[in-house]
Amino acid sequence: MAQTLIILFCSSLTISLLAISSASLDTLTPNQTIADGAKTTLISAAGAFEMGFFSPGSSSTRYLGIWYNNIANGTVAWVANRNTPLSDTSGVLRFDHNGGLILTDGGSNVVWSAKSSKASADLVVQLLDTGNLVIRPVNDSYPDNYLWQSFDYPGDCILPGMKFGLDLTNGVNRQLTSWKSLDDPSTGVYRSGVNGKGYPEIFLWNGSDTMFRLGPWNGIPFGGRSSLLQNAIFTYNFVLDEAGAYYMFQLLNASTAMRLMLNSEGDLQFLTWHDPKKGWEITVNLPTDKCDDFSVCGANGNCNMTKSKLGQEMCDCFEGFSPSNLENNEIKGLFSGCVRKRMLTCGNQDVFSRYPGLKLPDTQNSWIDPRLNLDECKAKCLNNCSCTAYANMDIKEGGSGCVLWFGDLFDTREFLASSQVLYLRTAGEGSGIISRSKGKAPVAIIVIVVLVVVTVVLSLFLLVVYKKKKLRRKADQSQREDFELPLFEFARIAKATNNFSNNNKLGEGGFGPVYMGILEEGQEIAVKRLSKTSKQGLDEFKNEVLCIAKLQHRNLVRLLGCSIEEGEMLLIYEFMPNKSLDFFIFDKVQSKLLDWPKRYNIINGVAKGLLYLHRDSRLRIIHRDLKAGNILLDHDMNPKVSDFGTAKSFWGSQSEASTTRVVGTFGYMSPEYALDGIFSFKSDVYSFGVLVLEIISGKRMKGFYQPDPNLNLLGQAWRLYNEQKFLELVDKAILQSCNYFEVCRAIQIALLCVQPYPEDRPEMELVNLMLSSAIEMPRPNQPGFFTAKKLQDSNSSSSLILDNSDVFYSSDI
Ligand SMILES: *[C@@H]1O[C@H](CO)[C@@H](O)[C@H](O)[C@H]1NC(C)=O
Ligand SMILES: *[C@@H]1O[C@H](CO)[C@@H](O)[C@H](O)[C@H]1NC(C)=O
Ligand SMILES: *[C@@H]1O[C@H](CO)[C@@H](O)[C@H](O)[C@H]1NC(C)=O
Ligand SMILES: *[C@@H]1O[C@H](CO)[C@@H](O)[C@H](O)[C@H]1NC(C)=O
Ligand SMILES: *[C@@H]1O[C@H](CO)[C@@H](O)[C@H](O)[C@H]1NC(C)=O
Ligand SMILES: *[C@@H]1O[C@H](CO)[C@@H](O)[C@H](O)[C@H]1NC(C)=O
Ligand SMILES: *[C@@H]1O[C@H](CO)[C@@H](O)[C@H](O)[C@H]1NC(C)=O
Repeated sequence: MAQTLIILFCSSLTISLLAISSASLDTLTPNQTIADGAKTTLISAAGAFEMGFFSPGSSSTRYLGIWYNNIANGTVAWVANRNTPLSDTSGVLRFDHNGGLILTDGGSNVVWSAKSSKASADLVVQLLDTGNLVIRPVNDSYPDNYLWQSFDYPGDCILPGMKFGLDLTNGVNRQLTSWKSLDDPSTGVYRSGVNGKGYPEIFLWNGSDTMFRLGPWNGIPFGGRSSLLQNAIFTYNFVLDEAGAYYMFQLLNASTAMRLMLNSEGDLQFLTWHDPKKGWEITVNLPTDKCDDFSVCGANGNCNMTKSKLGQEMCDCFEGFSPSNLENNEIKGLFSGCVRKRMLTCGNQDVFSRYPGLKLPDTQNSWIDPRLNLDECKAKCLNNCSCTAYANMDIKEGGSGCVLWFGDLFDTREFLASSQVLYLRTAGEGSGIISRSKGKAPVAIIVIVVLVVVTVVLSLFLLVVYKKKKLRRKADQSQREDFELPLFEFARIAKATNNFSNNNKLGEGGFGPVYMGILEEGQEIAVKRLSKTSKQGLDEFKNEVLCIAKLQHRNLVRLLGCSIEEGEMLLIYEFMPNKSLDFFIFDKVQSKLLDWPKRYNIINGVAKGLLYLHRDSRLRIIHRDLKAGNILLDHDMNPKVSDFGTAKSFWGSQSEASTTRVVGTFGYMSPEYALDGIFSFKSDVYSFGVLVLEIISGKRMKGFYQPDPNLNLLGQAWRLYNEQKFLELVDKAILQSCNYFEVCRAIQIALLCVQPYPEDRPEMELVNLMLSSAIEMPRPNQPGFFTAKKLQDSNSSSSLILDNSDVFYSSDI
C-alpha cells in the first residue's frame, strides 16, 4: 500500500509540470482537461483503470466513465453523466481552479459536475488504481482527505475498497442502481443498498417493492447465503458503529478483479474476472431461488427449498401458527402467511421455540443492542409484549449481542449452513424452551393426530345430531358442512368385506388396496385399507381423513367413517357401483353406454364438485390429482370426485413436514406444476380442461392419434378448434347423441382451462357459469403442453408429456 502511494505521489509531481491533455496520466491539475475530441484519458498509476469518454453497447451517445484497463478491458465501472448523455464527441471535462470538476458539451452547457468539499488552489484530481476518482490536496493523498470521490456515488457496481451502505462520517448512503439496459446507463428500476431501519442489512428493491434481502450480518458473513461464506477471491466485512453501517470487500489477490454488480435485469451479482477465459464469472447470483423472493410465504411463514424440490408446498408455518385465511391467493400460489393459534399471554406462560438453520427474519422491524448476551436478550424480549423473537447478533465465539423482533416475522427461509438460532415466542402451557425435534415424525404422533381429529369430529357429530333433532335440518345438502365422521368397529368392516378377501378387492388405491363390502344392514361400502408397509400412506391417510371428513357435496364421494383399531387404518366410503370414468370413456364397448347427455352431465357435475372444493367448502381445497380414474360414477352415472390423498387444504401445509407423496399424474398436470412445482387452484382448472377433452374425444391425453399422429390431444383440439371442425374431435360413439352447441362450448371452455399461464385460465366459478349459460367466452390461445411429436425419433421421448409413467412420486428423503 505504502509503495503505491509513493508511486502516486511521484507521478502527480511530474504531471503538474507537464502540458495539459497530452499523454494519458492519472491526475488532472487546475485548467487541465479531458476532451472526447482529442481522445485524452486518465489512466491509473498501475494501469488498472482508465477514465475517458465512451459509448456503451450499440448506443452512439457519449458518456464520461471509468473502465477496467489492464484486465477486463472495457468493462465500465462508473459513469459520471449517466442520465445526461452527450449526443456527440464535443464533451470536455475540466478541473477548475476552485476545485470543481465540470463536464460541458459543445455549446459549453454544463452536463455534469462535481465539487470538492473545500475550495482551494492546491488541489488535484486523481484516478486511483482502485477505480476511485478523487479530488484531494496536492500534497496529501490520504483517504481521509479526499474532498470528493466517485466511490461516494456508485452506479451499478461496487468495487473492492468501496463502502457499500451508510457512511455517517459524510452522510452518504451508497446504493447501487441498475442501468436501464446494456446500451443505456441511465438509472433503471432496480436498486440495492443497506436499509437504515432496524438491524442493517443489504436489500434489493424493484422500484418501491422489496425483492430480496441478503440477511443480517452475524459475524459469519451473510446470514442468508452459504455460497459466500468462504471464497478464495475476496474477503468482506461489515462495519456497524458511529461511523456508519456498511459492507466492504477486499481482494485477497490484487492481480484478480472482483465487483458486485446490479445488472439491468435486477440480478445482484458477485463477478470475478477469469483470466484464462478472459471473461467475468458469476460467483453468486442473487436472488437465487424461489425462497429468495422477499416474504414469499407471508407473515410468519417459513420458506423451505428442500420441500419445494420434493414437489411439496414450499411454505410452512412456525409451530404455534396456522395458515391464515386466504382470499385472492391464487396469484401468489396459495400461501399468504400464518397467524397465531393462540395469542401471546404477555406473561411468563410464553415460551420460546428454538429454530436453528434459518435465515433470520426481516430486520426492518427489529431492535439491536450489541452489549447484551443471549440471556439478557431473552429477558428483554419477555419484558416487552410486542417482542416476538430474539437472536444473537454475532455468533462468532459462542455469540454476543441481541436482536429483538417486534410483530409479525417476515422472509425467513431454511438455511442449513447457518449456525445461528432464532428463538421464537409462542404462547405455551408450561415454561422454558421447547426443543423442536427436526425431521422425525413418528407414527405415534400421526396416530395421535388422527385420534384427536376423530374425537373432535365425533363429539361435533354428537352435538350436531342433538341440534338437528331439536331444529330439523334445512333441506339443502350442499350448504351443510358439519363434521360427521363416525367410527366403525374393525370387526364389523372385516365381516363386511369377507375378512378383506381377494374376491372383494376392487383395486389398489393411492396408499393401499380398496375392498367392496356389504354392511349387515345391507349398505354397500368401499373400504380403503392403509397397507402397513406403506410409509407414504400414513400421510395420505391423514390428509384424506382431515380433508374429506369436512366435505359434503353430491359430486364428491362421501366418506362414511373410519376405523383405527388394532393398528389398522381404514376409510369407509359409499360404494360406487359403476366404477370410474376411465373405465367407460376409453373403452370401445363401454363408451357406447355413456351418450352425450350423460357425458355433459358428468362434465357439469365435476365442475360443480370442483367449485365446491375451491370456493364453497369450509376449507378451500386443491385436489391436485383430478383425472378420469378419480371420477367415480354412481347408479345413475352421476360423477363423484374421489381420492383426496394428495389434496391440499390450508391447514394442511404444516402437518406435512416429512411427507413423500404422490403429487399428480402426467398429462393432467399444468405446466407450472409439472415443471416448477407451483400449484394453485388453477392447476386443478388445467386438469379439468384435459378431462373435458378426454370426455368429449374418448381419447387419452397421453398418446397420439389419427388423423394427426404428430399432435397430442391438446394439439389436435387446438387445431380443430381453429379450423372450426369441432365434430371431428368428438368420440364416434356419441356423435349421434351430441348437441353441437354444447360440444362447441365445452371444447372452447376446455381450451381456456388448459392455457399455459395460470392467470389466463378461468376460475371454476366462471367455468360453471360458461357451462350453464350462453355468456360470451374469450378466445383461447394455444394450450400449454401443446406438443408436436418429432417424426424422426419415435423411440426417444421428445418431451415431458410423452412420459408414460402413470403416477409421479416425489423421491424419498
Ligand atoms: C487557470 O485559469 C484561470 C483562469 O483562466 C487562471 O486565473 C489560473 O491562473 C489558471 N491556473 C493555472 C494553475 O494555470
Ligand atoms: C484495451 O482496449 C484498447 C482500445 O480498445 C486497446 O488499445 C488495448 O490494447 C486494450 N488492452 C488490453 C489489455 O486488452
Ligand atoms: C504541502 O506540504 C507542505 C509541507 O509539507 C505544507 O507546508 C503545505 O501547507 C502543504 N500544502 C497544502 C496545500 O496543504
Ligand atoms: C420489477 O417490477 C416490474 C413492475 O412491477 C415487473 O414487471 C418486473 O418483472 C419486476 N422485476 C423482477 C425481476 O421481478
Ligand atoms: C495471484 O494471482 C496470480 C494470477 O492469478 C497468481 O499468479 C499469483 O500466484 C496469485 N498470488 C497469490 C498470493 O495467490
Ligand atoms: C416494546 O418495544 C417497542 C419497540 O421497540 C416499543 O415501541 C415499546 O415502547 C416497548 N414496550 C415496552 C413496554 O417496553
Ligand atoms: C424443510 O423441509 C424438510 C423436508 O420436509 C424438513 O426435513 C426440514 O426440517 C424443513 N426445514 C425447516 C427449517 O422447516
